[in-house]
Amino acid sequence: MERSLVLIKPDARQRGLVGTIITRLERQGLKMVAIKMLHLDRVLAQQLYAIHRDKSFFDDLVNYISSTPIIAIVFAGEKAVEVIRKTMGATDPARAEAGTIRGDFGLDIGRNSVHGSDSVETAEKEVKLFFSKDEIYT
Ligand code: RTP
Ligand code: MG
Repeated sequence: MERSLVLIKPDARQRGLVGTIITRLERQGLKMVAIKMLHLDRVLAQQLYAIHRDKSFFDDLVNYISSTPIIAIVFAGEKAVEVIRKTMGATDPARAEAGTIRGDFGLDIGRNSVHGSDSVETAEKEVKLFFSKDEIYT
């Protein structure tokens, strides 16, 4: 069974969208196997987004994701990575289709409500960054 990491970002948690976002993902047939609320420190934020280290938006991204608490969730299911990315929609909410999480709730490219792992390989790494083995249920 494939697993993937979802983060509910500060803008969505602050606006009370946690339940709505979880419901949308569960409706796709995904099963929640781990969940926690945490305030990311800059080190973990930089590790999560290490691939964007050299981009102009890196500092803004790290500052934003570590600004206020977020919700981290592991979802499991058939093609979980792909299903989550589709349900989230495009990175820029202005380009994301209606009916996707970002299309319906995202505010701008920075405050785009959710993170989802972008490949099966990344997902396994990201799950381990946020959760120990004994925090994940089967
Ligand atoms: P995420 O990692 O958060 O799930 O988003 P993503 O895969 O759809 O997009 P990615 O390319 O990984 O970018 C990570 C986050 O960086 C911010 N970003 N800003 N100003 C810009 O041009 C720009 N491009 C990306 C977004 O907040 C994006 O979620
Ligand atoms: Mg990404």
